[in-house]
Amino acid sequence: MRDIALAWRADGLTVGLVPTMGALHAGHMSLVEAACRENERVVVSIFVNPIQFGAGEDLGRYPRSPERDLAMLREAGVDAIYKPSVADMYPPGAGTRVNVHGIADSLEGVARPGHFEGVATVVAKLFAAALPDRAYFGQKDAQQLAVVKRLAADLDLGVEIRACPTVREADGLALSSRNAYLDAAERQAAVCLSRALRLASEAYRRGERDLGRLRAILRNTIEAEPLASLDYAEVVDPATFTRGGSLAVLAVRIGKTRLIDNHDLKLTYPG
Ligand code: PAJ
Repeated sequence: MRDIALAWRADGLTVGLVPTMGALHAGHMSLVEAACRENERVVVSIFVNPIQFGAGEDLGRYPRSPERDLAMLREAGVDAIYKPSVADMYPPGAGTRVNVHGIADSLEGVARPGHFEGVATVVAKLFAAALPDRAYFGQKDAQQLAVVKRLAADLDLGVEIRACPTVREADGLALSSRNAYLDAAERQAAVCLSRALRLASEAYRRGERDLGRLRAILRNTIEAEPLASLDYAEVVDPATFTRGGSLAVLAVRIGKTRLIDNHDLKLTYPG
């Protein structure tokens, strides 16, 4: 991949990178479309990164749809698809890991120890392979976005991190590859995440600024759904992920499936 990227850069072409783990959906494709609008060459990487999954997580059964992914990316007109193997990325002896301290130490970082270390390490390697001017990440994974922004700034990687809004189903559920795990009843129950964010955002618009009360709205809405169990509900600063600010963040288990979602309460809830 690096040779192609070097040739593009030698020709003075701008390069956009969209890192993914495949099983592509309209959320991923919105990142691809933004990259195609803003760059002369676009690379999409597909790599289910083993080191960002914890023991007991879903690495073994993570959804994969290679032919469909390829067809969608061809149709979108991307210039290259980078699909390294696990051995390409982590050959025997590879021992370097990238840690973004601070942001990565709360919420998802606590719930999924080692997750952001895995993300930061693979993203640094993908940047080294594709040499992008810009890289595209979804606001759906808001803490990941904050970690990657910090990584790019702290290591002077010279990559502009572009954030893209969350794409949702008609009923509000944020698109996610993991939605495929939900059965019909769970799929209906999963709408409680976006309902909670909408109710908190309506309260914020009416003037509610008390973090405890905003958290209670999130928590009570999730607890009202019998199939849901709350992992965390917080209101944080979107850059540091410390308490305060106006980004409402949620992690909820629906049956065996863990879903996350977030919304900036300052913005009107879509739909
Ligand atoms: P993955 O879950 O495949 O997501 C790839 C990108 O798509 C991420 O930036 C994610 O935030 C974005 N995305 C997912 N659902 C979205 C939605 N509904 N709307 C908008 N964007 C959405 O996130 C990862 O892969 C990995 O951690 C990765 C960054 C590739 C590193 O391995």
